[in-house]
Amino acid sequence: MSVRRSVIAGVGSYLPERIVTNDDLAKFVDTSDEWIVERSGIRQRHMVADGQFTSDLAIAAAKAALENANMDAQEIDLIVMATTTPDNTFPATATIVQDALGIHHGAAFDLQAVCSGFVFSLSTADNFLKAGQFKNALVIGAETFSRLLDWEDRTTCVLFGDGAGAVVLKSEEGGDGTVADRGILTAHLHSDGRYKDKLYVDGGPSTTQTVGHVRMVGRDVFRHAVVNIADVINEALLATDLTIEDIDWFVPHQANKRILDSTAKRIGLPPEKVVMTVAEHGNTSAASVPLALSVAVADGRIKRGDLVLLEAMGGGFTWGSALVRW
Ligand code: UT7
Repeated sequence: MSVRRSVIAGVGSYLPERIVTNDDLAKFVDTSDEWIVERSGIRQRHMVADGQFTSDLAIAAAKAALENANMDAQEIDLIVMATTTPDNTFPATATIVQDALGIHHGAAFDLQAVCSGFVFSLSTADNFLKAGQFKNALVIGAETFSRLLDWEDRTTCVLFGDGAGAVVLKSEEGGDGTVADRGILTAHLHSDGRYKDKLYVDGGPSTTQTVGHVRMVGRDVFRHAVVNIADVINEALLATDLTIEDIDWFVPHQANKRILDSTAKRIGLPPEKVVMTVAEHGNTSAASVPLALSVAVADGRIKRGDLVLLEAMGGGFTWGSALVRW
């Protein structure tokens, strides 16, 4: 039996030029490099320039992913863009990206699941491709999270950064329906709105008519993150009859080094299999997973045929995992 799979044909990313170190922040926030490194593992983050928008980052990442896939933009008929920081409340930033790439067919829309946005978008695009509704998708995670930060709240402003990552998903026939197939093997998504007040933005078009700032009960997010992430990874392994030993690379949402270390320990994954970019990028929300993927592909760690485990957890709460044969 021939099975249709969504294969990752290319990956790309973009980081704004400006690097802001912990010491830079300590000049105007009551914090220190020592505290930030110890509690989060973050050493620096990239930040957009004035006049640089989420769409600019997304367009650059999308172009890099298309080049990496050796594909023309005209072959894309679906864009799913994960972002919490759209250029404007509407239209979807995905349509700005679509137009900039010269694509005037197919569909383009934004998806909002905060830090889990890329995993949610990947799964959404995968389902469209598997159903035969579209052929080739761009899945983008792009954020200018710095624009949502309250620079007087040291418990949040030191943790986040800006950036974008993208993958090209190609619908391919011919898989035999086993875990040896290339492509997305399984994806698992969850939300639980009981925790919506643990990590949120205190503004919006319908409530305050302002953009608002990030608010977070860090300890509660941390506690839930480790448990939820481990659960949703086990779900992916159970669904595919794979074990943690089968995983070649773990590419998690880059929120906090301590969360990643605790999760890896809990699921029994050796640290050398964890792709970690949080020190250089900070938490870039929906962009963090494709950014980390891009780094590990570019430096030769992730190779064709490898089994790659993705996960993310964010506001809502939302959380999810995906297993991909590269
Ligand atoms: O994508 C998902 C998004 N979010 C996350 O994943 C975040 C999850 N949570 C975390 O990563 C951690 O909870 C944080 C890194 C946010 C905080 O670490 P923590 O070990 O939970 O610290 P804490 O909130 O318990 O704060 C400890 C102390 C407090 O001082 P007191 O009350 O003990 O005197 C804070 O006021 O650290 C203080 N503090 C800071 N000190 C220097 C909080 N932020 C800072 C700071 N610099 N930036």
